[in-house]
Amino acid sequence: MTVAIRNSQSSDYPGIAGLCAAVYPGSPTWQKDQIQSHLNVFPQGQWVAENTSTKEIVGMAASLILNWDDYDFEENWRDFTDHGMFTNHDPTNGKTLYGAEVMVHPKAQGQGIGKMLYAERRKLVREMKLLRIRAGARLRGYGTYAKEWTPEEYVLRLIRGELFDPTLTFQLKQGFRVLSLVSNYLRHDPESLGFAAVIEWINDDVAKPIDYLRGNPKFKIDGPWSKAK
Ligand SMILES: CC(C)(COP(=O)(O)OP(=O)(O)OC[C@H]1O[C@@H](n2cnc3c(N)ncnc32)[C@H](O)[C@@H]1OP(=O)(O)O)[C@@H](O)C(=O)NCCC(=O)NCCS
Repeated sequence: MTVAIRNSQSSDYPGIAGLCAAVYPGSPTWQKDQIQSHLNVFPQGQWVAENTSTKEIVGMAASLILNWDDYDFEENWRDFTDHGMFTNHDPTNGKTLYGAEVMVHPKAQGQGIGKMLYAERRKLVREMKLLRIRAGARLRGYGTYAKEWTPEEYVLRLIRGELFDPTLTFQLKQGFRVLSLVSNYLRHDPESLGFAAVIEWINDDVAKPIDYLRGNPKFKIDGPWSKAK
């Protein structure tokens, strides 16, 4: 399958809704007014991955710029995204690109599309001279291990490369580090039980030494993914 990444357009909505339904069956999809709002406030931060032969939308990423000083680590996805509308987008004061969504169609996963979407995000951050990307990585595999380990133990095992999580291991491979662990990030998520890691990728072009120091020191350990870019 040949795939091209491009900025999203309003006309992509049916394809995005179909993609959501395939990735999260039975859950509400992005709504048309939300996707339109993203395009109104920050068109450069919205991407789709399109199958160049069939024109099917097989991936998407949605982002906004936050002034992180306005938020605590403990806030949840609805706070960071203004209920999915991105109307809190703040390019004047913000230096954090917030990754609100990334998804790849199940039949297209494992073919490098998620990686391509993240490469576009990093490119935009460098072009806009932003400091970092932050996101919440829901601990999708945690539910299976919840009886054995605390979420913290689970995350430490992922960082050390002893265990794979379908979401966080992917993010660690994209050069992200874990800053902290939060509960109640996504309500009604039986896979993660609501737990997520707040993760960060720093733009080395503009960062100062102090910018690397934020977050819980417990998670600042090297693992096999530490040198990922
Ligand atoms: C997470 C997701 C976006 C990854 O996209 P993808 O296109 O499958 O990922 P890629 O093929 O680009 O893989 C990139 C790297 O991550 C690794 N990876 C991807 N999925 C993985 C998994 N389930 N477990 C371990 N590693 C994984 C790949 O092996 C690859 O590693 P490499 O660079 O060493 O080759 C995709 O699986 C998805 O949409 N999942 C469901 C939605 C979701 O959880 N989104 C994140 C919400 S926070």
